[in-house]
Amino acid sequence: MKYLKISLLLAFLIVSCKTVQDTTQVVKTPTDKVIKNTKDIQGGMWIPSLLEGMNETEMQQLGSKMTAEDIYSVNKSSLKDAVVHFNGGCTSEVISPSGLLLTNHHCGYGAIQSHSSVEHDYLKDGFWAMNKSEELPNPGMTVTFIKRIDDVTKEVFAGVTDAMDEVSKMKIIQKNISKITKTAQKEDWQNAFVKSFYKGNQYLLFITEVFKDIRLVGAPPSSIGKFGADTDNWMWPRHTGDFSMFRIYADANNKPAEYSKDNVPYTPKHYLPISLDGVKEGDFTLVFGFPGRTNEYLPSVAVNQIVNVLNPAKIEIRDNALKIVDGFMRKDEAIKIKYASKYASIANYWKKWIGEDQGIKKSKGIEKKQALEKEFAKEVEAKDLVGYKSLLPEFEQLYKEIEKVALARDYWIEVAYRNVELLNSTFRAFQLEQAYNRGGAPAFERARKNLLESFKGKYKNYSADVDRPVFEKLVGLYAKNVPSQYVPENMKQNDMNTLATAIYATTKFTSFEGAKELLTGTPEEVIKNLNEDSAYVFGIELHTLFYNTIEPTYQQINLKIAAVQKKYMKALMEVFPNKRFFPDANGTLRVTYGQVKGYEPRDAVYYEPVSHLKGVMEKYVPGDYEFDVSQKLQNLYKSKDFGPYGENGKMPVDFLGTNHTTGGNSGSPAIDAEGNLIGLNFDRVWEGTMSDYNYDADICRNIMVDIRYVLFIIDKYAGATNLIDEMTLVHPKK
Ligand code: ARG
Ligand code: GLU
Repeated sequence: MKYLKISLLLAFLIVSCKTVQDTTQVVKTPTDKVIKNTKDIQGGMWIPSLLEGMNETEMQQLGSKMTAEDIYSVNKSSLKDAVVHFNGGCTSEVISPSGLLLTNHHCGYGAIQSHSSVEHDYLKDGFWAMNKSEELPNPGMTVTFIKRIDDVTKEVFAGVTDAMDEVSKMKIIQKNISKITKTAQKEDWQNAFVKSFYKGNQYLLFITEVFKDIRLVGAPPSSIGKFGADTDNWMWPRHTGDFSMFRIYADANNKPAEYSKDNVPYTPKHYLPISLDGVKEGDFTLVFGFPGRTNEYLPSVAVNQIVNVLNPAKIEIRDNALKIVDGFMRKDEAIKIKYASKYASIANYWKKWIGEDQGIKKSKGIEKKQALEKEFAKEVEAKDLVGYKSLLPEFEQLYKEIEKVALARDYWIEVAYRNVELLNSTFRAFQLEQAYNRGGAPAFERARKNLLESFKGKYKNYSADVDRPVFEKLVGLYAKNVPSQYVPENMKQNDMNTLATAIYATTKFTSFEGAKELLTGTPEEVIKNLNEDSAYVFGIELHTLFYNTIEPTYQQINLKIAAVQKKYMKALMEVFPNKRFFPDANGTLRVTYGQVKGYEPRDAVYYEPVSHLKGVMEKYVPGDYEFDVSQKLQNLYKSKDFGPYGENGKMPVDFLGTNHTTGGNSGSPAIDAEGNLIGLNFDRVWEGTMSDYNYDADICRNIMVDIRYVLFIIDKYAGATNLIDEMTLVHPKK
């Protein structure tokens, strides 16, 4: 979910850090041949335009009846025409000829919240537009279609020679990319961008269409859409109906347009028919979406650093923040409301990292990488591939070199940027000062306007009483655990309580009015105000150290790592020509396929792949904020009023598959062997969250809502039959 947020904000200050390039040929991988053990052909996030000759046979072996062209075609309508990048961070799919969109509840959460008030609490009660005039516009929301994907590797490398140093190579590559983007063949209303794959060994051009009039159509109450909340997050058995619905509006010519009441529902090139036949263990599943980031080809030293140094540090920080926030939420209803969403978002990755560490240890992920490296070194030696001999020792050396600064960087992100809200405010104000230094008064005005707007939202949900103990604890951890060259002088003290008390008693950053007061006046006056504020004075030492030392040091080493990683990627593919290599996720459209399958989380325990409404009732805790169940749902359950959506008197809710997914795949369609919608991806199981580094078909599972549960809630629970009528429901198995 929204994996991009931090990186986008940081991009502003980070020195450009693109992967160092080389003059490589277009990547060729893997061998698309019949393999006995289907376990070996699962995992991977594949490029939809390159399935033919790469994945078609594998997919058919797993049960698919589709051709590569059914999935991606430029000339005919294909599945890809029904899959969109939803607001930059999630995935969504078109499910009707009138541009109806389905995505997760947690992806629509912000929009649903923004339309809610005490009188109409759509988060609590749900929202259903009973006709198109009731659909609600969402300024700023976008969805992006991929019209075409072209391989432009040769053009990107044109003029680059091996003799050049990395900086010169980079310059030419950047120039080529900008030329390719500018001259790309496309219509006026379309966009173009180039992205790097296989660590900079391949480049693809994307032609897209971005729609900007997206309206909220429906959402179940949180007691369904977020059932189980944090306790069940990343867990199986799961019983969440994690969905919400939107609609794309276009101008009279069916083209993208800014919001207008005259816009009309978009007519898609393709929309997904919906299967009412359900799933059973072993069925083929394809998940089509926009996975954000994976790192599957790291050397063992890097994974070791993540598991044993970086993750434990981040977990400890969040552990402490969560405990403090939870303490306040439990005793104060108003604070509970203010912090619910923040708490969920801190808890989300906290829990994921814990699962990741356990999973890598349990599946011997590091040992497996070491074994691969041993084999790699042996082959390189045997084939005398001189240029590759130094790669592993270089990794060893560079990861040693980066460890301290990487730890400091993670501490800064977690403490100063993410979890101590006061320090975040001072950082944002610091950026304002930077904007002035760089761009003068006009830049300052723009930045101030944005900052005030964002502070307005931030302080609505802020409590200095909660934040002060978080500051005390987390700043204390920073001072204690970060290598001393990355700790500012004003943090080198033991009495964090006195420090926190003094700062919070005097700073104006503890309320919106105070912050606004600081930001009022000419740029010079604002900067003077800021530099007299106790929190600002404290914060900028830390932020300056980050800007001037931590980040540049980190990026400098990281640039070297990226150069080695690029070569290593290419070397792996050459040395092991028969292994499957997919490009790491990078926020572009990907296909992943597998089967409906349960798993064995530990000895003697087997998890079935399908959950039912019965399980919702088993988990029911009256009045609980995570496990309450509405009377209406209980009644439907008791009367077994499941309509055409139940199966043998039971109502399926969620199911598991072996599809290789990550953050960003939320809301992705789960598609059957024939191209019909059977579910909606929304999570992974805890034991398998390590799949971002190390996919293992034995234990990695994605979690999907059964589409029949979605339809049951729309139809039987909400009575929004107007929406059902728009869809095409099919029975492919009958
Ligand atoms: N774990 C899922 C994801 O990474 C769902 C997160 C939303 N739910 C929550 N309880 N925080 O986005
Ligand atoms: N909930 C995640 C998302 O929003 C998907 C789960 C995952 O990371 O696999 O993208």
